[in-house]
Amino acid sequence: MQIERLQIDQETFIQALGGEEAAATMSASAKADALDDFMIGALNDPGYPEMVARARNGGPPTLRRGTGAIFGDGQRQPFDLVPLPTAPTLLDYFRLRLPLPFLRHLLQSAGMALESGVEEELVLACLLHDFGQNLARVDHGWWGAQMIEPYVSERVAFAVRYHQALRFYADEAAGYHYPELYVQIFGEGYIPEPYIAATYEQVRKHPWYMAARMVTVNDLYAFDPNKSVSLDPFVDIIGRHFRQPPEGLGFDGSPIAHMWRSLSFPDHPL
Ligand SMILES: [Fe+2]
Ligand SMILES: [Fe+2]
Repeated sequence: MQIERLQIDQETFIQALGGEEAAATMSASAKADALDDFMIGALNDPGYPEMVARARNGGPPTLRRGTGAIFGDGQRQPFDLVPLPTAPTLLDYFRLRLPLPFLRHLLQSAGMALESGVEEELVLACLLHDFGQNLARVDHGWWGAQMIEPYVSERVAFAVRYHQALRFYADEAAGYHYPELYVQIFGEGYIPEPYIAATYEQVRKHPWYMAARMVTVNDLYAFDPNKSVSLDPFVDIIGRHFRQPPEGLGFDGSPIAHMWRSLSFPDHPL
């Protein structure tokens, strides 16, 4: 019965395109895209009993808070983009795809790590630690680690992945205090989700615990809007510890290339 309802009414579809004349000016691929939208729209029909609970209740449109910054997350609008070079490098993504506040935060974090004398690999981990937030704020440690995994050492990916869970747990001896900012964001006495607690328990026993912990230590004070920052001190470190694919990030056929392409072309509708 429901399958029958999915069959499209051609006249309604033509009207949705703006009428016969407007439809005649559209390319085949534009029509195919419009057809997809039309079909998806049909699925929002509350005539499907199981969909009633999920239908919009009206009110102003809202953005999901876990959306990545490139798409305009819960806090800001999407920013204007210029095309990337055909074989984009990590530096191109830093310069042309990171919103300024993220760029500043990552450069400050990596700058503090560099000044404190930690090894270069961990400076790179600090430089990349919140890169995943550009694609998805929710679980950004996991997203970010997956994006860089083919190009960095296992330990750098580990540090990026798990800084997200460790930041909720103080380690005074290592110089990490529970951030006042989290009290403001999450409230007094916040208890992290069970999967975060389980991840913390697992990571603190791991031989690479301090690698992830060092990211949180250098995360803590890296929010100074007046501090000048530059990518220059990190160009050689990236060159030594990030295996840039010659085809460009997003075009090397790796299983995670699509994640970089999504940053490259965030306006592609499908
Ligand atoms: Fe983070
Ligand atoms: Fe951070």
